[in-house]
Formats: sequence, structure tokens, C-alpha cells
Amino acid sequence: MSFDPGAIAKDFPILSRTIRDGKRLVYLDSGATSQKPSVVIDAESDFYRLHNAAVHRGAHQLAEEATDAYEGARTIVAEFLGATSNEIVFTKSATESLNLVAYAMGNAESGSSFFIADGDEIVITEMEHHANLIPWQQLAARTGATLKWFEVTPEGRLDLGSINSVITEKTKVVALTHQSNVLGTINPLTEIVKRAHEVGAAVVLDACQSVPHMPISVKELDVDFLAFSGHKSVGPTGVGILWGREALLNDLPPFLTGGSMIENVTMTSATWAKAPKRFEAGVPNMAQAVGLGAALTYLQKIGMKDIFAHEQELTKYAMDALLQISDLAIVGPRDLNDRGGTLSFTVGDIHPHDLGQFLDSQGIAVRTGHHCAWPLTRKLGVPATTRASFYLYNTTHDVDALVSGIRSAQKYFG
Ligand SMILES: Cc1ncc(COP(=O)(O)O)c(C=O)c1O
Repeated sequence: MSFDPGAIAKDFPILSRTIRDGKRLVYLDSGATSQKPSVVIDAESDFYRLHNAAVHRGAHQLAEEATDAYEGARTIVAEFLGATSNEIVFTKSATESLNLVAYAMGNAESGSSFFIADGDEIVITEMEHHANLIPWQQLAARTGATLKWFEVTPEGRLDLGSINSVITEKTKVVALTHQSNVLGTINPLTEIVKRAHEVGAAVVLDACQSVPHMPISVKELDVDFLAFSGHKSVGPTGVGILWGREALLNDLPPFLTGGSMIENVTMTSATWAKAPKRFEAGVPNMAQAVGLGAALTYLQKIGMKDIFAHEQELTKYAMDALLQISDLAIVGPRDLNDRGGTLSFTVGDIHPHDLGQFLDSQGIAVRTGHHCAWPLTRKLGVPATTRASFYLYNTTHDVDALVSGIRSAQKYFG
């Protein structure tokens, strides 16, 4: 069956509601959070209706069913990423996954491959979301390491011209985004990962804007850790994923301590369970994990290749139409090579917040502001941008609505 975003949209109950006095909802903010299909809503509610019990604990049937559902979801996530189950850690969000790695590295003792100290270097990029910037700033501050970064070119690509002086023998970790949540740029991982591994640095990938939109294989990417959020992948809020190579996860000290993450406990000490349990202290977000399993199964059934191709087509359609609008400037690459379905732009002197509010009055949901990437916005020399981000349920009608909404805003604001 051919890819039909109109039919797909019918799987998402919220997309058939109207807003602002009966207007059709045009949802172009999936980069912030995606909408949820009925199968995900049902999976989460069925967990509570039928199977709810604390996983890995009870000696009763419900506990057994809950554990099977939770561990089943882990297997689904592992298969989705081309990984194994022991490498999948359930967290509450991508933000928590990234903090987990940075904080745990900061707890590593001398002798560990993760030990970071004064004289070591941590490398990030200028296009990071705050979730993949601040944890590394904090790690540098805690350990005395130096924070370095790849700059962004005016076109919105990473400047790799000085790769060998950015990633050096002193680099312990390189943390970067796979796809920018502002520019849509998909970063050239092969070269960066090769250089990082040459100097023995670990690569942490923020895959929040790529995992929901394209086929991903952690083996092919060859990174060491990867984070993404359930809620951007048609899954529930309150669940994120940290994937890490099994040996590395088992070398990493814990992040949160408490029940379930231990091997043995005395009154004065404890030893840690192996991954993933080591990083899942307490009764976990079971229903959300099960919902994420249903979400990834849903995406897989539609096909990640087809989802990516659809978003590419839509991005081209949108870019062609937006560039016809006088005074509209796209922030980020204008060609489709290595870029995804996120379009940020400015429109003359209209402040993005005013534009966002105007579009909202027409039923069009976009995001405005610095998109949690303040240093990038500053570097681009704009106070803020308006961002339209596409997903599997968006159609050319949605793009047409956006374009006509912007034209109306231009008339309205004179
Ligand atoms: C690139 C990127 N990284 C990290 C995050 C943080 O994700 P979450 O808020 O789900 O933890 C986001 C969310 O917008 C993002 O776009």
C-alpha cells in the first residue's frame, strides 16, 4: 500500500478535533512533541486497566504480566535501533538520558576509561539543544575539563575544517546532535565518529530529531551512546531511551541509586547490578515504556524509510513554497541534502511570537522562540525564529495552510 498521510492522520484522534472556533487543526510542531495514535493511547490505558503491578518484584500473575509487557517493550526498542535488550535503558526523557551519561561520567573514578579531569576536553557543537549542552557544561565545571565545540557555518552546517584541532588526544567525549531541532541539518557523523574513536573518545548522540523520522541502526552509526524521547516518536511523555554499548554501560557508575539497581547491599555499602537495571532505580515508568513499545511498532509497520521519504518530499514542497514569499528567510540549509523536515524562518520585521500567535488564530500550530538552542540563535544573528516541523501525518494541505497563513500575517502586520 502506498504511503498515505491523510489516512495515517486518521489514526491520531487529536488531529480530527477543531480549534479556535471550528478551524481545522494544522499541527506543525512535531519537533516539540508528536501526536499519539490510538494504538499508543490504548496500550498505555490497557496496561493500567489490565496488567498494572510493580515490575520485577511481585510474586503474582499481574506482576508477571507487567514485567513481560515492560521487558517486551525493551525488546521492541532494541530491535528498532538494531541493538540488544541489555543495551536499552528506560529513562524519563532524552534530557534525563543525556544527563545520566554526563553525570555518571563525572562520578567515574581514576582508572576508569570515563574518568575526566583537568586537562581533558569535552567536545560539543554550537547547534546543540540545551539538553545536550548544559549537562556537558556542568561536567566540565565539576571536573575542570575544557569545553570545546564545532562552530556552525552561515548555511547552518557544522564547520569540520578544523576537526583535528577540535577533537584532540585530550578529548574524552564528543556529544552532538544527529539532526538539529532548529536548522534541520543532519550532521556528518562518519567523519566525526572516526576522528573521535581515533583519539579514544566516546561519542554521545542526541538522536531526538532523527530516531522518530528515519531508519536508525546503532551499529551503522558506530556511536557509543544514543538518546531519544518517546513523546517525539508518537509515544507517551515520561519515557526516554538511553542506548549504550553494553560493555560501556557496565563500566559507567550509576546515576540514581535505590531499589532494583543493586547486586548486593549491606548497612554501609552496595554493589551495582549490570545494565540496564543499574540505571533503572525505583519502580519504573512501566505504562509509558509499554506505550513506547506500541509507538515504535506502529512506526515500524508504516516503515521508517517511507516516513523519511515522505518528510523529504514535504520539506521540498514547503521550501519551494516558502521561498516564494517576499521577506521570508529560511534559517538553515536550503538544499535537501542531509537535512530533515524542520524549517525555521524569519519573515521580515514580523516578530516570530506575533507570527506564531497569528498562525494560531488560523488553526496552525508552530513553535516560535530560540527552541532551547539559545547560543545557536545568537550565532545566527536572529532574536528568534518560527519553526514548522513535519511528521508522518502532515500533508501538502498543511503546508498550503502555513503558506497562506504567513501571507495573511504579512497583510495583517502591514
Ligand atoms: C535535539 C533535541 N535534543 C534534546 C531534546 C530534549 O528532549 P526532551 O525534552 O524530550 O527530554 C529535544 C527536545 O526538543 C531536542 O529537540
